[in-house]
Amino acid sequence: MSEFQAPRGIPDYYPPRSADFTRVRNTLTAAAALAGYGHIELPVFEDTALFARGVGESTDVVSKEMYTFADRGDRSVTLRPEGTAGVMRTVIQHGLDRGQLPVKLCYSGPFFRYEKPQEGRYRQLQQVGVEAIGVDDPAIDAEVIAVADEGFRRLGLTGYRLELSSLGTAADRPGYRKLLQDFLDGLDLDEATRARAAINPLRVLDDKRPEVREMTAAAPLLLDHLSEESAEHFAAVREHLDRLGVAYVINPRLVRGLDYYTKTTFEFVHDGLGAQSGIGGGGRYDGLMRQLGGKQDLSGIGFGIGVDRTVLALRAEGVAEEEPARCRVFGVPMGAAAKSELVVIAAKLRAAGIAVDLAYGDRGIKGAMKAADRSGATFALVLGERELAEGGVEVKNLTDGTQERVSLSNVVEEIRLLVAESERA
Ligand code: HAM
Repeated sequence: MSEFQAPRGIPDYYPPRSADFTRVRNTLTAAAALAGYGHIELPVFEDTALFARGVGESTDVVSKEMYTFADRGDRSVTLRPEGTAGVMRTVIQHGLDRGQLPVKLCYSGPFFRYEKPQEGRYRQLQQVGVEAIGVDDPAIDAEVIAVADEGFRRLGLTGYRLELSSLGTAADRPGYRKLLQDFLDGLDLDEATRARAAINPLRVLDDKRPEVREMTAAAPLLLDHLSEESAEHFAAVREHLDRLGVAYVINPRLVRGLDYYTKTTFEFVHDGLGAQSGIGGGGRYDGLMRQLGGKQDLSGIGFGIGVDRTVLALRAEGVAEEEPARCRVFGVPMGAAAKSELVVIAAKLRAAGIAVDLAYGDRGIKGAMKAADRSGATFALVLGERELAEGGVEVKNLTDGTQERVSLSNVVEEIRLLVAESERA
């Protein structure tokens, strides 16, 4: 075992498998860009209080999983466990809510949660997220969900389902909470479950243990106790999704791990991943802006998609792709003078937009040709003392084995033509 290991619970991504990671991130952000979401770069750490207040003190994320430390100025800061609070902080701080609404933003990058590491559950997790802030229109709920769905589909995923629910407004909940609490009080629950019920009774409904499931089978459900406004909003979201052809199942027991949710909530679940099946989730958070000190009280909705889990889902479905070739042209120098010349030619070809790599380290023609083959390049440029003296370079087409001599004085243009021709073929 090497002396240093990545910190526990942190996945390393390196070639060739990192190609899947890049594809997932780029495909998801591209789907968001097509719907008009602009890029936002969030700080990796923020004031601890932002997450405590935004995400909620009673959540596992805040109470057990945050990477919190005092910086050298003795301020309490926390590595971001999620993106929504930071986005809202940025919107409020820079007055983005005074401009065109909704504010539509997209972010990607690492988030940090001190969880028990296992396959698909990491301490540094990667997300692509979007947030649309400033309108309560059910059509935008459907848009946010459809963007995620489109992203998954573009990646070639099919084995996932969308679970949908509504948590109603903050005003809908106390009455229902009381109903549920009374129901749960009548059950013979164990101590730990009872304690969880006291913090958030909804979480007991999400308990996966069969004996708890059975006991709560007849529990009152929030979906049956929504106010008229919330029920109408939810119906409109479903109608839009129906028209968009985005399939969903209603899961009245859907519980999200963050406190800010209101009305529409959803999760994308993949069946090929075992316990860590949530590949993305999100929902509406109508009180968050006010909660974080905003002057206005604008509503918002968004999603966070787990890039790591989406990569696992691609592999589980067998639609993960081979790494695309990292270069189009590979230089094979024989001798110091040839190498010196190829280094310059490589730089010129790169400046012309052609991806080029070289055999470094003087390993001889056989080793260098092997490296050229492995690189996935279409062409090898073979240059030795003799070719140099004759003012030419051998260009070998690695796909069909043909070879031709190209003049050194015109090599960049000639290669450009050959590459263009091979791309058309
Ligand atoms: P979340 O459900 O906590 O929501 O996380 C979103 C996604 O991140 C999850 O569905 C999962 O795929 C991935 N994820 C979370 N924790 C881990 C982990 N430990 N290891 C691997 N993947 C993980 C949020 O973070 C909200 N900010 C989403 C949102 C945006 N809601 C509204 N706007």
